Amino acid sequence: MGVKIVETALRDGHQSLFATRMTTDEVLLALSELDKVGYYALEVWGGATFDSCLRFLNEDPWERLRKIKKVCKNTKLQMLFRGQNILGYRHYADDVVEKFVEKSIKNGIDIIRIFDALNDIRNLECAVKATKKYGGECQIALSYTTSPVHTVEYYVELAKEVEKLGADSLCIKDMAGVLLPETAYELITALKKNTKLPIELHSHCTGGLMEMTYMRAVQAGVDIIDTALSPLAGGTSQPCTEAINYALRGTEYDPKLNEEMLNEAAVKLAPVKNKYLENGMLNPKSLSCNPNILKYQVPGGMLSNLMSQLKQQGAMDKYDEVLREVPRVRKDMGYPPLVTPLSQMVGTQAVLNVISGERYKMVPKEINEYLHGKYGKFPAPVDEEIQKKIIGDDKVITYRPADDLKPEFKSLKEQYKDIAKSDEDVLSIALFGDVAIKYIKQRNEDAIPTVIKLEA
Ligand code: CO
Repeated sequence: MGVKIVETALRDGHQSLFATRMTTDEVLLALSELDKVGYYALEVWGGATFDSCLRFLNEDPWERLRKIKKVCKNTKLQMLFRGQNILGYRHYADDVVEKFVEKSIKNGIDIIRIFDALNDIRNLECAVKATKKYGGECQIALSYTTSPVHTVEYYVELAKEVEKLGADSLCIKDMAGVLLPETAYELITALKKNTKLPIELHSHCTGGLMEMTYMRAVQAGVDIIDTALSPLAGGTSQPCTEAINYALRGTEYDPKLNEEMLNEAAVKLAPVKNKYLENGMLNPKSLSCNPNILKYQVPGGMLSNLMSQLKQQGAMDKYDEVLREVPRVRKDMGYPPLVTPLSQMVGTQAVLNVISGERYKMVPKEINEYLHGKYGKFPAPVDEEIQKKIIGDDKVITYRPADDLKPEFKSLKEQYKDIAKSDEDVLSIALFGDVAIKYIKQRNEDAIPTVIKLEA
C-alpha cells in the first residue's frame, strides 16, 4: 500500500500563502482535474476560509462548499474544525457544535479534522460524537509543539485516548513546521506501535525542513501526508504534491497520483498565484525559508502578526525583544502549543510585556480567562506567581469549560429570524456575529429583483 495524499491547496495552501483570499471561482478553476488525481481527500474548508468568505470576499461559505461538492464525485472533502471553538475563537455551547457538524456533513464534508489548541480531549468530545452521529469520518488532530512536557510519550498517551474516543484516524498537526526528521521517525514509529489508527502528518515548509521530515515519517510508516499542488506549495505552505509524488514513485510508498491531472490542475492554478503575487497579497517572503521559526519555535503566521502589531505601535525596533519574550510567556502559561487562538494570545501578551516595560502589567481578557482554566487544561503547570498577580485568589475551573454554556442555537434562530434564511445562516451568525449579519443582509437585498426594490 502506498502512502495516501491529502491535497491542501484549496484550504491551507492559500491560507498560509495569501491570507485565504482565493475566491470560490478560483477554487473551482481546477477542481474537476483535482478530483481525478487520486487523492485520499481534498481539504477545502475551515475557520479561515469561512471567515474570509464572509469578511473579505462577500461570499457565502456554505454555498462554496455546495459548489465544490457538486464537482467532486470521486474524492472525499475534508474540513478543519477547532473543537469546541468550531471555526471561531471562543467556546460555543454543545448544541451549536453539534448543529455545525450536522450541517457541514449535509452540505458536503466527508472528513472532519478536529483539534484543540491545548490537546484537551474534553474539548473534542462533543464534535467527535456529532461527527459519528451524522456519519462523518472523524479525524482527531493533536497540536504538535516542542517543550519539556511535549515528548513522544506525551503524544503516545494522547493517541491512546484519541483511539478510545472513537476517532477514525489521528493526525499530527505541526502548524509551525518545527518537527525534525528524526523526531518524526521516532514519533510515527511509536504511534504506529501503540495504536491501530491510521496516522496522518500535517506540517509546513516554513523552516525549510519538511521534505526531509515527510520522508522520515513515510519511512516510519505514516499512512497519509498533507501536500499542496505546486502553485500553492512551499514557503509557509505544505511540501509540493508533484515533487513528493515523484520522490516516492516506484517505491513501496508510491502514492500513484495521476500525473497528467496534477499537471493540468497546476497549469490552471498558476495564474491565480501570479495574481496574488502581483497584487501584493502574496509576499515573496512567505515563499522563502525562515529558520528563525526553528530558533524561536514560533509559527510563521504568528511572526507576521507580531510584525504588523509592532508596526502599528511604531515599535519595530522591539521585534527581537518580543521574539525572545514569546517563549518566556509560553513557559509561564504552561507551554500551550502556538495555534489559534493561543498563538494570538501569547503573541499579544509578549508584545504588551515588552512595550509596557513591565511583564504582565497589561493583560488581555483572553489570557485572564485562560488562567482561570476557561480554555481547558494547561499542558504543564502555569507560573503560580504570575497567575496570582493576574487572577488573585479566583477559583480555577477544573471541569470542561463548555459545561458552563447554555444552549444557544434556538435563541439565536429566534433572534435573527428576519434575516437568517436557513440554519446555515444562523450558524454563520453564531460564529461570526456582525460580519455574518452584514453579509447576509446584503445578500438578501441583492436577491430581491430590482423591480420590487423600486416599488418598495
Ligand atoms: Co496547517
